[in-house]
This record gives sequence, C-alpha cells and structure tokens, in this order.
Amino acid sequence: MERLQKVIANLGYCSRRKAEELIEAGKVSVNGEKVFELGTKVSKSDVIDVEGITLDRNYNYEYYLLNKPRGVISSVSDDKNRKTVVDLIETDKRIYPVGRLDYDTTGLLILTNDGDLANTLMHPSNNIEKKYVAKLNKFFEISDLKLLEKGIIVDGVKCIPTRVKIKTNNRVKDFSIVEISIVEGRNHIIKRVFMELGYLVDKLTRVEYAFLNLDGLQSGQYRELNIKEVKKLYEYKK
Ligand code: URA
Repeated sequence: MERLQKVIANLGYCSRRKAEELIEAGKVSVNGEKVFELGTKVSKSDVIDVEGITLDRNYNYEYYLLNKPRGVISSVSDDKNRKTVVDLIETDKRIYPVGRLDYDTTGLLILTNDGDLANTLMHPSNNIEKKYVAKLNKFFEISDLKLLEKGIIVDGVKCIPTRVKIKTNNRVKDFSIVEISIVEGRNHIIKRVFMELGYLVDKLTRVEYAFLNLDGLQSGQYRELNIKEVKKLYEYKK
C-alpha cells in the first residue's frame, strides 16, 4: 500500500505536490469514489482516476544514462528557452534528470520517470558516490591537497571527499587536473570546494555515478539502463 499522491506522481501524471492539490480539489477518485484525504493509501489493484483520466497502473518506467554536453540545462524546461537534457532524449514519457549538473558541466546524468528511484538516488542519506574530473586554473599545491582531503567547509557544512587524486599537475603551463569523489549533492559543490581553496574550475565532468560510468558514450549520447543496473540502484533504498 502506498500513499495516493506518491502513486500518482510515480505514475508520471504530475509532481507529488500537484497531486496533493488535485486530491484536495476533489479531482481524484479511487475505484470510482472521490478521495479528499491526503493520507489515503492505495494498492496495486485500485483504479485511480485523475481529472477524469484513468491512470495506467502498468505504466512503463524508463531509465537513461546520458553523457551530458556543455551548454545544456539540467531540467525539464527552461524559461530562457535553452536546450534541456530532456530535449536530448527521444521519448514520449515525462522523464526528468536525477539531480543536476551545471550548464557548463559535462558527463554522467541519469534521467527517469520513476519517482521512487529518483528520490532514492537524491536522498542525502543514501551516500551515493559520484566521481568528477576537474581542470583547475592553476598548479594544485600539495598543501591544498592535504587540506582538501581533510574536508572543506562550504556554507558552514564540511564537504569531505571520499577520494582525491591529482591526474596532471603542470607548473609551467599552470594548470592541474584533479579527480575527486564525493557523496553529497549540493549545487555547485565541486566548484565551491575548489573556490574555497583559491582555485577556479575551468572544466568539470562527472565520470562516475555509483557503479555507473560513461563507457561507450560520446558527449550527447545516451543509453537505457538495463534491469540489472536499475535493480542495483534500488539497493540504495533504505
Ligand atoms: N559540482 C559542481 O560544481 N557542478 C556540478 O555540475 C556538479 C557538481
């Protein structure tokens, strides 16, 4: 049994908040009876109608792994009419990105219409490791590496990377490439961590998300996740 608004959202009709509004407005019925109670629980066999539309309980979820290019926004729509990650994927389902990568960040992004999995992956307590490769605007000092490994305070909260590795450090050309893995998901967190240390991130790519990587995917390309991968991601659910 699951809460009605969650089921409506997970079936891809609308967001959970919108579903709550629709329930309160008397636009939802279960087995032909109008329901106003937000706590109502429904089972797999209940027939749910929203605004006169019967929801398909056998709705197929879709899961995509995209190698996001630069200059694409990580959302479903954009008020400035910029290209979104959803525009890059051919589907008629209401998919959306799981978390976000900045407009100028490239790399691994999961998109789905499965709200349950998306919430699982985005929940901070699930400690999913993400690996990034950052090109910095200067030589990376070993003293700063030591500081980074101990953790950097951003907005009063410490971000402790799970791993940091210098891939390239060039004093003559004055740049460095650093691989950094973190579990948290605050906006712009990698750029902000390096900013605290006095570095600018000139290029940022997410190369791993949990056990997933970008193998075989050029920038802008995507593939569907297979059942095994989806099951493995669900193992993060507590
Ligand atoms: N950290 C950032 O600074 N940007 C991203 O896009 C992701 C993580």
